[in-house]
Amino acid sequence: MTNDLIDRRQAVLGPNVPTFYDNPVHLVKGEGVWVWDANGHKYLDCYNNVPHVGHCHPHVVSAISAQAGTLNTHTRYLHDGIINYAERLIAKFHKGLDQLIMVCSGSEANDIALRMAQAVTGKTGIISTDNTYHGNTMAVSQLSSRKPPIGGYAANIRHVPAPDTLRPVGGNAKTQAQAFAQEIQKAINDLEVSGHGFSGFLFCPTFANEGLPDLPKDFMKPAEKVVHAAGGVLISDEVQPGFGRTGDSWWGYEWLGLSPDVVTLGKPMANGHPVAAVVARESVMSEFRNAFGYFNTFGGNPVSCAAASATLDVIEEDDLIANSKIVGHGFLERLQAIKHGSIASVRGRGLFIALELETDGIADEVLAATIVEYARNNGMLMGRTGRNRNILKLRPPMPFSIQNAREATNTLTAAFKSF
Ligand SMILES: Cc1ncc(COP(=O)(O)O)c(C=O)c1O
Repeated sequence: MTNDLIDRRQAVLGPNVPTFYDNPVHLVKGEGVWVWDANGHKYLDCYNNVPHVGHCHPHVVSAISAQAGTLNTHTRYLHDGIINYAERLIAKFHKGLDQLIMVCSGSEANDIALRMAQAVTGKTGIISTDNTYHGNTMAVSQLSSRKPPIGGYAANIRHVPAPDTLRPVGGNAKTQAQAFAQEIQKAINDLEVSGHGFSGFLFCPTFANEGLPDLPKDFMKPAEKVVHAAGGVLISDEVQPGFGRTGDSWWGYEWLGLSPDVVTLGKPMANGHPVAAVVARESVMSEFRNAFGYFNTFGGNPVSCAAASATLDVIEEDDLIANSKIVGHGFLERLQAIKHGSIASVRGRGLFIALELETDGIADEVLAATIVEYARNNGMLMGRTGRNRNILKLRPPMPFSIQNAREATNTLTAAFKSF
């Protein structure tokens, strides 16, 4: 059945549509932190952050179902769903971030954020790191380093070296924050000279796609200063760290003590229902609304808002941010105790953990791939990230328990013993 599906998939979806694993997993059911394949095999999900409050959480499912059976339309009619949700969500941000636009994907959210930066500054130059992913619209994909765009990067784009644990920007972990800010300043100067000018800096506060480097709390302070001194808009992409993933706070920028002008949200926002948003200062929003006419057919529809609202209910009622902190800490300690000559660094915050693998000082992508395949074949789903795809990425649904952490550690211990 699975082989037949692989052939049919290729026939209708075309080539190069990625699946995870040498032997792709054919999932048919999910519940909490578990998923099942078509052969009845059960997997501990240590990878998926979209089912934030657990796969198929009954409270979210029934909220979607109830609203879908009542009314679903767009935001050109009055509906209290989006207003109730917006008020509730905005209250979780620092004062100043007061307004939002609801959309359907993180890519759309970041695309709007770039346009907000243009509207505020009247300029087009934008900066991101050189090892990242912020989405797939024409504009946002210019910031991603996975595949250079056809025709090369646009002239208004600058990439600065991404922060790194083992190979810090500037060569020294202690001065990495300053070196990183200097790189941003250089890029700003270059954009000004080129005539594009500087509109903003888009970054993920955990630098998740960059490999989740271990950074001090004040790491981004020099960069924030440089961006704001140049009149640029600071955009925090919370698609990965948002909604309490790191166990410290609702948003990744809070831990860094930052005051972004725009925040983008996505993946975990509605537990799998396609909901994303851009939260911005009132002044930024009005510049954007004056510069661009914007309407999104599906963004903020009543069913999406019911799903997003129910997701907030569960995060709050089940105290999932605290769970992320406590279980994440226990999980990290257990993983740090695994002994293997190629484990170069085990780091993370909350339920977001990275194990970086190097052999003889060289990134070991092959070992990372082997461990991921071993885990898949032994009932555990995880992924890889980083510039060299040599970093194991663990980012389970938030109701992950200490018992789950023990199970995952046992699987990884056995994996590392085998190779
Ligand atoms: C940091 C970050 N921003 C934005 C996106 C794009 O989100 P979406 O796939 O919902 O468009 C991703 C997706 O992986 C992401 O990791």
